[in-house]
Amino acid sequence: MIGAPVFIDRIGKAYGSQTAVAEVTLDIPAGEFLSILGPSGSGKTTLLTMIAGFESPSAGRLVIGGRDVTAVSPDRRNIGMVFQRYALFPHLTVAENIAFPLKMRGICKNLRAERVDRTLDLVQLRDYARRYPHELSGGQQQRVAVARAIVFEPPVLLMDEPLGALDKKLRESMQLEIKQLQQRLGATVIYVTHDQEEALTMSDRIAVMAKGQLAQLGTPADIYHNPQSAFVADFIGKMNFLAGEFVGETAGNQTIRLGDDVIIDTPGAAPGFDGPARIGDRVRLALRPERLGLAMRGAGGKNALPGRIETSVFAGCFDLHLVRTDFGNGEIIQVQVPANGTGSPFAAGTLVDVIAERDCLRLFTDAEA
Ligand SMILES: Nc1ncnc2c1ncn2[C@@H]1O[C@H](COP(=O)(O)OP(=O)(O)OP(=O)(O)O)[C@@H](O)[C@H]1O
Ligand SMILES: [Mg+2]
Repeated sequence: MIGAPVFIDRIGKAYGSQTAVAEVTLDIPAGEFLSILGPSGSGKTTLLTMIAGFESPSAGRLVIGGRDVTAVSPDRRNIGMVFQRYALFPHLTVAENIAFPLKMRGICKNLRAERVDRTLDLVQLRDYARRYPHELSGGQQQRVAVARAIVFEPPVLLMDEPLGALDKKLRESMQLEIKQLQQRLGATVIYVTHDQEEALTMSDRIAVMAKGQLAQLGTPADIYHNPQSAFVADFIGKMNFLAGEFVGETAGNQTIRLGDDVIIDTPGAAPGFDGPARIGDRVRLALRPERLGLAMRGAGGKNALPGRIETSVFAGCFDLHLVRTDFGNGEIIQVQVPANGTGSPFAAGTLVDVIAERDCLRLFTDAEA
């Protein structure tokens, strides 16, 4: 199997007066693992079903492997698809389910058996060939669905929340399996999820969607570290937001006041800050919990945010501290500190400084919610 490039060219879909997808453009190279990530109702499934051909776009065109397939029927697009619910044929065995797409394509019996065997091995279900779907666990059923989607070696594989129904542990092992499978096969994968961790671990690139539009496109690291809007910052990973006021800028360094008297300097190149930067403007300061530090009150140095430990939670590899700030509206800041196994010195009630390194601060205009 060799992947094909997919070019989504200003594709849009309206249902009556409602826009489900608004002119999305994505240029996906052959063999890429691209995730489409976004909240419920943001248009992910609509975009995917247009690529599959089950919905026709209201605008734009779709090019797969250099061929314009906008008007081509789904069965002639040679695309594999896995849906959120397994959608296996209940009256067919595992082997028969997997053989189905080959049968549809008129592939002879011998070749069919050979391909089904090989695919069963790939998804590690050789011993389950004769079982029926209801005799399998959720994860096994989903592996059958993946096998059925890849057995005819499609150059493009579409997956719509394929692991949504599985528990966390199974989901994580299936994520690795799908990723390895894709790397072995070389297929181009377009993977829909609303689970940001899943998107971060599996993807070459992530397309974040909001309200039918592309909010940001980039590598997982890029999206995580350089969110271009408060929406993306909030949606990917954990993020603290503090309301503040822009009080000035010197040498590319923006100064923000939080509450009455806490002054914070942010680096001039704070990505995402496209704000008007006029003195008095309301802004939002974004801080990742794992990029913050804690010190006893007074020991935090510059850019320290005074507060009081409200609760501390042991969360395995880190301690999560909820710090109630002494300024503004007394907002809570989440601070993640690596656990050292000896317990945390920051008991509830301790007066602390939250240390915010300049390079971990992101600034957004208040208008973006
Ligand atoms: N057949 C339809 N008729 C009318 N509106 C639709 C139809 N299908 C989807 N929509 C609307 O289009 C928008 C996008 O829906 P879509 O299913 O693409 O969202 P999604 O991102 O996949 O959400 P989820 O994470 O919940 O699956 C929604 O507002 C939805 O109500
Ligand atoms: Mg959906």
